[in-house]
Amino acid sequence: MTTDYEIIDHTYDVVVVGAGGAGLRATFGMAEKGLKTACITKVFPTRSHTVAAQGGISAALGNMGEDDWRWHAYDTIKGSDWLGDQDAIEYMCREAIPAIIELEHYGVPFSRTEAGKIYQRPFGGMTTHFGEGTAQRTCAAADRTGHAILHTLYQQSLAHQAEFYIEYFALDLIMENGACRGVIALELATGKIHRFRAHLVVLATGGYGRAWFSCTSAHTCTGDGGGMVLRAGLPLQDMEFTQFHPTGVYGAGCLITEGVRGEGGYLTNSEGERFMERYAPNAKDLASRDVVSRSMTIEIREGRGVGPNKDHIHLHLEHLGPEVINQRLPGIAETARIFAGVDVTKAPIPVLPTVHYNMGGIPTNYRAEVVAPRDGDPDAVVPGLMAIGEAGCISVHGANRLGSNSLLDLVVFGRAAAIRAAEVVSELGSHRPLPADSADYALSRLDRLRHAEGEHSTASIRDAMQATMQEYSAVFRTAETLEQGSQKMHEIAGRLADVKVADRSLIWNTDLIETLELENLLGNAVVSMDSALNRQESRGAHAREDFSERDDEKWMKHTVSWLQADNAVQLDYRPVHMTTLSDEMEVIPPKKRVY
Ligand code: FUM
Repeated sequence: MTTDYEIIDHTYDVVVVGAGGAGLRATFGMAEKGLKTACITKVFPTRSHTVAAQGGISAALGNMGEDDWRWHAYDTIKGSDWLGDQDAIEYMCREAIPAIIELEHYGVPFSRTEAGKIYQRPFGGMTTHFGEGTAQRTCAAADRTGHAILHTLYQQSLAHQAEFYIEYFALDLIMENGACRGVIALELATGKIHRFRAHLVVLATGGYGRAWFSCTSAHTCTGDGGGMVLRAGLPLQDMEFTQFHPTGVYGAGCLITEGVRGEGGYLTNSEGERFMERYAPNAKDLASRDVVSRSMTIEIREGRGVGPNKDHIHLHLEHLGPEVINQRLPGIAETARIFAGVDVTKAPIPVLPTVHYNMGGIPTNYRAEVVAPRDGDPDAVVPGLMAIGEAGCISVHGANRLGSNSLLDLVVFGRAAAIRAAEVVSELGSHRPLPADSADYALSRLDRLRHAEGEHSTASIRDAMQATMQEYSAVFRTAETLEQGSQKMHEIAGRLADVKVADRSLIWNTDLIETLELENLLGNAVVSMDSALNRQESRGAHAREDFSERDDEKWMKHTVSWLQADNAVQLDYRPVHMTTLSDEMEVIPPKKRVY
């Protein structure tokens, strides 16, 4: 074992990895409960990807018309195409209401109605009376809701004196006998190694959108939590389900919020037709994202795309007028001007479905505890480990997430993690010593990559991965494309053993960090492709042209996937929770979806 690295030891009750919305909500919630809490993050907290969330956060407040959290739960279950766990969905939708009021009291500057209430806009798939009417449920701070929430949560974390380790990169979990005992991190500025011993580690590291070429995710979304979990011999869940947001800016991929369609915007094809009326006669442009993305893809495939290459679609908001645009959608007006050269008061925005969200992730229960099938128990808790936010798979989004349920997931389950952590830590005694070799695995991996002298540059492997995921892990899939994709992804992942890292230093070594991130992305990408090949049905965002129907009898179950030596993927299943937490809501049995 190399002795090149100085190790600095820390002991905390809880270590949260990641400082986006979920990580910060958990961090200050734990500090508030008197737990000695550290948050380690590879970027400054207010630069986390939550800052990019635009349209809003859902909660059945009923400020702009009647609403009920049970209708919200019904929509979420239907949106998930019956792959969401109904106990967790009940928890999220019920807790949404106090969670938003709490955010308001913490200081989130929500937009307001004339009466001074929190402004709410309609979003895709959100209905009243179990599918009858349109709900205005998405609470917004103009189109910069994530920015407003993230800054408020960071201020609260500082107010609660949470301890931050900023610009630290988490390398690997410390595991002992199947339990998590802490985490090893690299301090980017100095190259020093920090060993965090903790009763609980909470992974809040975000998604892995950067495995694809075109995505709305920040460059930091590299699936670091999923990568660590796979290396720890634990599984990920439902990795075949990737959400394409219908309106990414053509060419640039930047997000144009669904709030545009919520405010009355609409899509047209090359014939100027509002084609969503054909595909979803009821919901039209506000059908759920999987439906709109597929419809747009079909229009383009059938030759009705716009532009010289007929390869994208138009999003109109000119008719909304400058006043509504300036008040409700100022951010996307700027994005469209910078990235598409469009004045949205005069011309439509060129858009294309773009990878936006990973429904799959680290499996947890609704208390945010990581679970993994063990000894016949599909819900066995992994002691010492929690996961929240896009890194986790609770699973409230199932096969397809509804817009504005993500910011909600972050704050509700960040808070749930803090509540559960206080119970767990109160039952534990003092910290036990860590095993003598607790840093060896992380350091030998770091050292191997730092001195890697192979043939392939990090960038070349990343390019190949992104091109492959873009082409084969796409809106529509078949056995043929997925088999090719799987073969290619396994070959590309294998190239990491022959990678070349040019910079050997330990001071701000971005070459090394990008390689560590690439290893995380590759693990996520390989299990994602193989899980997609395995699932022989269409459900939510997973649209198989060769198995075009949802098959509840065979496939109403979660896929769990392990990564073994040489990137071999092992698959198994967990049952979907068709139970509720209370008698305030009934289980929603599977129904055929009508759009
Ligand atoms: O369209 C949007 O504003 C994105 C929201 C979300 O993904 O929840």
